[in-house]
Amino acid sequence: MKMKFRILGGLAIAAATTVILGSCTADPDSAGLEYMPDMYRSPAIEPYVDYGQVRETENVDMKMSLSAMTPPFGSVPYYGTDSLEVALMLPYHRKANIAFRQTHGMFDDELSLDDTYKMAAADNNPMPLPTDEDALKSFFANGKVLFENNCSHCHGVKGNGQGEMMVTGKFAGVPDYANLTDLSDGQMFYSIYYGKGSMGAHRSIINKKEIWTIVHYIKKLQDSDYGSPNTGVDSQEVAEVTEDDQ
Ligand code: HEC
Repeated sequence: MKMKFRILGGLAIAAATTVILGSCTADPDSAGLEYMPDMYRSPAIEPYVDYGQVRETENVDMKMSLSAMTPPFGSVPYYGTDSLEVALMLPYHRKANIAFRQTHGMFDDELSLDDTYKMAAADNNPMPLPTDEDALKSFFANGKVLFENNCSHCHGVKGNGQGEMMVTGKFAGVPDYANLTDLSDGQMFYSIYYGKGSMGAHRSIINKKEIWTIVHYIKKLQDSDYGSPNTGVDSQEVAEVTEDDQ
């Protein structure tokens, strides 16, 4: 009996040694012998592939289901290598004030005790206005589309606060932009991004670049000469980008 155990024990040790030594290779970059390769290699999940129907195999349960998933919160999409473009799309550097937790439901956000709205007054629009006249026209045309798709039902196409929602009495308290000429670019951005009073946050609907475009457009609504090359508004001044502006 004892003898049998000794033989079995010996065999087990020999088998374990073979397995352990067998998994070593001379290649320093190799992970060694893979006994369970699926633990080493995650299957590449590609968006827009119907995994319910791959080559000859068909999996009815998975067929027609979405393979592209929503990226995790805080993911930064790839916007190319143009540094201004990338800077524009990095997360907004100002946190919402703590009061927004009660008013705008930012439960997942890191909030600030500082008066970040006030601090935002120091932020300039990091997006330069095009200097070329045609490019400038199409820039404002794009701003108009963004504004009319997202804002004019409250603010009115002219920005006078008389959008459909106000006129029909469904909503109240929308200001006329003509009374907000002292409002800084940075505070406009902050209010559009996080919301203000009864205006909701727009950050999940339009991205930072679109918001800064709209900020330019609002200034154009306030002053039809805004951005025109011959009117003293220096677009170079607007174009100056500092680290903090992004
Ligand atoms: C549901 C109606 C509604 C929509 C939609 C809306 N707003 Fe407003 N907006 C308001 C109200 C109301 C205020 C006044 C908030 C306050 O001062 O309490 C306001 C204020 C503002 C202000 C002044 C902010 C400040 O700091 O004083 C700006 C700029 C503004 N909105 C821009 C926009 C833009 C741009 C959009 C579209 C992306 C938009 N709003 C969409 C209702 C709306």
